[in-house]
Amino acid sequence: MELSVVVPTYNEALNVEPLYERLRAVLSGIRYEVIFVDDHSPDGTADAVRALARRVDNVRCIERIGRRGLASACIEGALSSSADFVAVMDGDMQHDERILPEMLALLRKGDVEVAVGSRYVEGGSAGEWTKDRAAGSIWANRLATLAIGTEVRDLMSGFFMARASLWRESAARLSAIGFKILLDLLASSPRPLRVREVPYTFRMREFGESKLDATVVWDFLMLLWDKRFGRFFPARFMSFALVGGSGVAVHLAALGLARAAGAEFLVGQAVATAVAMTSNFLLNNLLTYHDRRLRGAKALLRGWLSFAFASALSATANVGVAGYIHDRGSGWILSAAAGIAVGTIWNFLVTRSITWRA
Ligand code: GDD
Ligand code: MN
Repeated sequence: MELSVVVPTYNEALNVEPLYERLRAVLSGIRYEVIFVDDHSPDGTADAVRALARRVDNVRCIERIGRRGLASACIEGALSSSADFVAVMDGDMQHDERILPEMLALLRKGDVEVAVGSRYVEGGSAGEWTKDRAAGSIWANRLATLAIGTEVRDLMSGFFMARASLWRESAARLSAIGFKILLDLLASSPRPLRVREVPYTFRMREFGESKLDATVVWDFLMLLWDKRFGRFFPARFMSFALVGGSGVAVHLAALGLARAAGAEFLVGQAVATAVAMTSNFLLNNLLTYHDRRLRGAKALLRGWLSFAFASALSATANVGVAGYIHDRGSGWILSAAAGIAVGTIWNFLVTRSITWRA
């Protein structure tokens, strides 16, 4: 096998067959396979892939349960390959498969380690995007360039080919957060990589819909943080701490409402604590643990209970540490800050293993 084309999918059932036909047309003469990595799509994408795989001999399906994420799907697909080269490509035909042979030729020659399908080099184009989406892409690209410092023009590309050995070499260092696997791969390499960009025009989607939403932006910022400062502060902890900070504002707002409604202070404080804790739980579920998000009433209730339990423990740790430090002569503010820091770390570690365990 010379080439594996890894295709991450979520609700792309209608695209499976036409995408395969297009690949077959341009890759004839090459020993290749197509690996679909599907996150248990409700529309039956995995079944569509398996139906195809029964008829042809170069299609496989990896189906993942209880997990989501474009980047992590690509990594798993790539690591399951025994080919020399691994390409990553969207499953909605927006990436132009006709440049794959050129990418392969570049890698075969050995001058480059990564060939990137690029919209932002001469001859490439983002196609018919809305103004907002185009601006968003360019802005994100700039921010990423600043964060990781590279010559690559289309860092947001999700269409590229690399030596399989590069995937294996880098796997342990990848952040595997969100949508941007190329960025992750380039930024995770301990040595500079030889990259060449191959222009193409981003196509319109015909079937199905985009999965890009606001939480993808948060994922993107987490990824940049992880690549830049992750050694000291993991992105997930950062996100958890920011959500905790937002809880303070929620708490004060709820307390204000309780006061306006004529509640006594202690009642107001108790209600505000419960509201802030619930808001923290929901925001962490949506943002910090987007990839393992709890869904459905039962999972949410169980998650909320374990989060409440962990928060109670962490409050105890917080007060204990703050009291200990205060007893040894530290001022109020320093003691409180130490208590909060320990409580937050504690809460993070406990909820990571009980509320959102992998
Ligand atoms: N397995 C898996 N899990 N696949 C996913 C998930 C997920 O959680 N979310 C999205 N996908 C798949 C989609 O089914 C599709 O095949 C591909 O990833 C891209 O998702 P789209 O929802 O079509 O994304 P897009 O078109 O907005 O964004 C694409 O364009 C960017 C260019 O700016 C992505 O390809 C980016 O990687 C690309 O950089
Ligand atoms: Mn798309």
